[in-house]
Amino acid sequence: VKIAIHGASGRMGQSVARLAAGEGATIVGAIVSPHSKALGHDVGELAGLGIVGVETTADTGSGLLGADVVIDFSTAAALPHLLQLAMRQKIAVVSGTTRLDASCERLLDEAARVVPVLWAPNTSVGVQVLAELVTLAAEKLGLRFDVEIVEAHHRAKVDAPSGTAERLRQAVTAARAELRPVYGREGDAGPRRPDEIAVLALRGGDVIGDHTVHFLGPGERLELTHRATSRDLFARGALQAARYLHGKPAGRYAMVDVIRG
Ligand SMILES: NC(=O)c1ccc[n+]([C@@H]2O[C@H](COP(=O)([O-])OP(=O)(O)OC[C@H]3O[C@@H](n4cnc5c(N)ncnc54)[C@H](OP(=O)(O)O)[C@@H]3O)[C@@H](O)[C@H]2O)c1
Repeated sequence: VKIAIHGASGRMGQSVARLAAGEGATIVGAIVSPHSKALGHDVGELAGLGIVGVETTADTGSGLLGADVVIDFSTAAALPHLLQLAMRQKIAVVSGTTRLDASCERLLDEAARVVPVLWAPNTSVGVQVLAELVTLAAEKLGLRFDVEIVEAHHRAKVDAPSGTAERLRQAVTAARAELRPVYGREGDAGPRRPDEIAVLALRGGDVIGDHTVHFLGPGERLELTHRATSRDLFARGALQAARYLHGKPAGRYAMVDVIRG
């Protein structure tokens, strides 16, 4: 599969570039912002691979030329322009960019009417499997178990809770629709209500991303945990998703489709 990388100079973009060849992908385009320090640099050199013959560009249209799929790890502000051009140039989109607003979400749906689109706040295959296990556990354990989610990330992360924690909360509410989110407790919070699910965030150090869903029942507890030990797992999942999307009809896809093949 021929890929363009949108956000090619970023931590995730470079990880995608490093792993592309091993995952059966050829890089044909690399896009950065107009003010990027990496503008005009070879994407392979940026990623520590040596020269691969693809220079970064801020011209999204030309960066997409010849690509089957664009892999995007950039910013929510940059994504709408990419989606417009991907629609125009008929290029499938895998996006892992987080903190999208409602208009960006709508644009993903609009683009999916024209090209295949997969957006995932966590492109790790393990997290998707965790989400399925969480729904199963919530279903089987039922109302006698309280469910709470705790996530931990490095000290530089600016948003909370993580997109993945929210994804896991939805995996719980898929089986327990009555649960309403609570994002912290302090002071005279009163006893826990049976219809709440707390989502709590720890921040510190260099933690790439840990998520635990706690099922707290009478006389027993179940804890389902995913720990990321390298950013490469997100890049590998995005490359797997790109291979999966290549040649698929227009529509919205999710990581769960990639796992099921
Ligand atoms: N889905 C997942 O599994 C997953 C995993 C990790 C991270 N993420 C998300 O992925 C995104 C990127 O994360 P990161 O850690 O790689 O961030 P980062 O290191 O800050 O990289 C951001 C990239 O976006 C580029 N960019 C900014 N504005 C742009 C524009 N207008 N046009 C084209 N490119 C533009 C930047 O280029 P220049 O600055 O060089 O211009 C840079 O290459 C974040 O939203 C993060 O939350 C998702």
